[in-house]
This record gives sequence, structure tokens and C-alpha cells, in this order.
Amino acid sequence: MGMVKFYKGPDMPLELHKVRVVQKLHLVPVERRLDAMKEAGFNTFRLGTKDVYLDMLTDSGTNAMSDNQLSAMMRADDAYAGSQSFERLQKAVEDVLGKKYLLPVHQGRAAENVICRTFVKPGNVIPMNYHFTTVLAHVTENGGKIEELLHDHAFQLKSDHPFKGNMDIEKLEKCIQENGVENIPFIRMEASTNLIGGQPFSLANLMDVRRIADKYGIMLVLDASLIGENAYLIKQREDNWKENTMGEILKMMTGLADLVYFSARKLSSSRGGGICTNQKALYAKMEAMIPLYEGFLTYGGISVREIEAMAVGLYETLDETMICQSPTYIKYLVEELEKRGIPMVTPPGVLGAHVNAMEFCKHIPQEEYPAGALAAAFYICSGIRGMERGTMSSVRDEEGKEILADVELLRLAVPRRVFTLSQINYVIDRMTWLWDNRHLIGGLKFTYEPPVLRFFMGGLEPTSDWPSKLMDKFRKDFGDSL
Ligand code: F0G
Repeated sequence: MGMVKFYKGPDMPLELHKVRVVQKLHLVPVERRLDAMKEAGFNTFRLGTKDVYLDMLTDSGTNAMSDNQLSAMMRADDAYAGSQSFERLQKAVEDVLGKKYLLPVHQGRAAENVICRTFVKPGNVIPMNYHFTTVLAHVTENGGKIEELLHDHAFQLKSDHPFKGNMDIEKLEKCIQENGVENIPFIRMEASTNLIGGQPFSLANLMDVRRIADKYGIMLVLDASLIGENAYLIKQREDNWKENTMGEILKMMTGLADLVYFSARKLSSSRGGGICTNQKALYAKMEAMIPLYEGFLTYGGISVREIEAMAVGLYETLDETMICQSPTYIKYLVEELEKRGIPMVTPPGVLGAHVNAMEFCKHIPQEEYPAGALAAAFYICSGIRGMERGTMSSVRDEEGKEILADVELLRLAVPRRVFTLSQINYVIDRMTWLWDNRHLIGGLKFTYEPPVLRFFMGGLEPTSDWPSKLMDKFRKDFGDSL
């Protein structure tokens, strides 16, 4: 994948897998897409997949499974307690992530629930490179606050900085001194910082964070949901680690953290999650919460079949040809869109290609959710479902005022080994059309706004009749084509 030179170029991604099971997709006409968008309250989360051609909402739970994962699922050991499937998962966690004690949870946010309930007290501050929506909700739910300590350059969306997910060490030390060690239960580092465009941190930076954690005696927690891709980009971009194997880099990363948690929906399978550590005392503090919120300690709310797939998936993260598939497609997609003048987050990261909606829809005020509007417009003109990552995914302050997001992005997720290159070329074509017609996109406003994680189920409406005008232009340019 991406490692083979083409005789007559241009170089392009080359798949090192073959397709053995297929699923039929539906590309419905633009008229139906407009109606579907209206029914979904202009929120791509609320679309049904029967109306979606390429589902680029997320890579969570949508990566393709391997033949080895599927066959392992057949030998799953059904048992409420003491399942051998769990033993195999424990071994995989120890072999790949280097941690002996494992608490299984049903998905990543469940790990955040257990960790935050155990360690976050009212008034606490959690320094992190950047938040993810669910961890912010859990910290806040437990009375804590977050401090985001990325370098300022992380918000330069067009950049060639290889590690925009790095934590600013000076800001970290200042944060600890200002808030007091006693108010900081842990520092959180997120591998491949999701919300700023899947941007990795370097191992050198993680080592610096560890040094500060040691200096002040603060626990270091690593969100490893996207650790495989972060490790791959360390190997690609960080000079000191070019000669190391994926396994060595992964162990080095997890070895620097006291607690590692992950969403297995992203890391290794299609369901599940876990919290792991080498410190028995930390394990013991959280143990009681698993049977209370998740399930018995040897299944944690995950089916044994999924536990088998998680274990095999963890070993597969050691395989560079598997882990590089999504970042290589993303690189191709980002570079092709950039060539056509479309404002993209660079350097290309992991998880998906990210369009800079603030630039794409300059004419839409941030209060009218330019990234949400772009997601809706792109669905109407292509049948492709992306995800808003901007102010719609943010929250309001205590007085009910919008907290405008640092960045407004349309994320086009590229789950591992799911799409073909011609489908990626279709993404490029339709996005280019939308770029040329961007003046037709208008704003959105909420009609139904849930108080917590509003972006999931919120409903919106356009601020004018721009969606119909966009559809008319599509028909004019594409005739009766889908
Ligand atoms: N941490 C990170 C970095 C994530 O990207 C996610 C999920 C979670 C935690 C929560 O895990 O969904 O299993 O409960 N990200 C998904 C996404 C939802 O679409 O980016 P979960």
C-alpha cells in the first residue's frame, strides 16, 4: 500500500488485500437526497443508510474485518465468567499494548465514564492535548474542567508540521502551577487527536509529557483509540523511530502511560473497548465499576465473539500494510482535493480527510454552522455522508451562548479497507463540483437542540431555501444522472 512505484505514474494507493464479501450500495436520485436531508433535520447523523451511497460519517465500528477476525469469532467461548475468549484478549493486550491488567468495557466512552467517575472530583482540571466530545462530556459530568494545551500552530489548518497533536510542554507546566497538583488527577494524551483532523503526536513529545508527569507526580492517561495510525505516522515522520517496528513503537507509547484506554470500535474491531494498566492499585480502584455499569469482568458488555475479533485485531495493528491503508487513501484524497484548490487540513492525518469549512463557506457566519451546512450540501450533491466537526459538535456556555469551535471541519472518514479507489475518485469529483458552486450553500439553525451531545440527534433547518437551489443547479449540470 503506497509502497509500490508505478512505471508510468502517477503513483496511487495500491491495495494489499482483496474483497471477498460485498454489500450492495444505493445511490438514490438527488430529489430523494434532498427529501432525506429534510427528514433528517439537516443532520447527517439522522440519515438512514438506505439513502447513503458512501458512509464517511466515521470509522467507528465500520472498518472492514479480516478473514482471521471472522474465523476467530467462530471459536468464541460463551461464558458469563472466566471465558477463554477474554483470556485471549488479555494476552493480546499484554503482547501488543504491554499492559497486564485489563478491564473490558462496551466502548470508548464507557472507559471514559469509569475513569472520570473514579478520578475526577468537582473543581478538578484535566490537562489534555485536545478534547474529544465524549471525554469532555464525562469530565464535565463529574464536575471537572478541561484545559487544552496544543501548540498554537495546531490550529493553522494548512500546515506542514508533522505532529500537530503535540502538547505544548510550557503550557502544561504553567497549567499545573496555576491549578495546583492536588487539583489535577491526571493528564490525558489522545493519540491522533481526532477533532483537529486526526493529527498525531510525536514520541519525543509524549516523553516530554511523561517527564512533567513524573516531576509533579501526576498520572498520565493515554487515549489509544487511534494509536495504530499514530504509531504508523511516527514511523513515517519521526527520524528516531524510522527503523523500529510497529510493535516497538506501540509498546514505547503505551509504556509511557500509567493508564491506557481505547475504543476497540476504532482500534481493533467493530465493538468494545478497554482500560489497561500495569499498576494493580489503579486497576483495583476501577474494578468494582465494571460489573456495575458494563457487565462481568470477563466480558464487560461485549459479546464474546467481538472479544475474539478485538484480540485478533490488536495483533493486526502490528502489520504496517494493514494499518497504512486508511492513511494512504486519506493522503491521496487530501492531495487531490488540494490540487483542485479545495481548502483541506494538512498534513493529511488519520481517520479521514478534513475539509476546512470556514474557508470553503467563508460567507456563512460561524453561528450558522458552516461545517454542518457543508456536510448537508455535500450529501445532497453526492449521496456521501460526512460528519460536522465544529460548533454544532460544541456546547453552549452557562448563559446559553454558543462556544464557537476553534475549527470548523467537514470530516470524510475513510474506514480501513472499505472503499475502492474509484469511490474515492467520485468523492473528489463531487467535492470539486460543490467547491465551484459553494456560493449556493447557506446556513443552518437548530429547531431541536438536546442539552447534552446535541450534534448526535439535534434537528436543524436551512436559514433560506438554499438546498433546493443547490439541487436545481445539480440537475442543470448533471442532467438526469444520479
Ligand atoms: N476517544 C477517541 C479519540 C475517539 O475518537 C472516540 C470515538 C472515543 C474516544 C469514544 O469511543 O465511540 O467507542 O465510545 N470516536 C468516534 C468518531 C465516535 O466518530 O470519531 P466510542
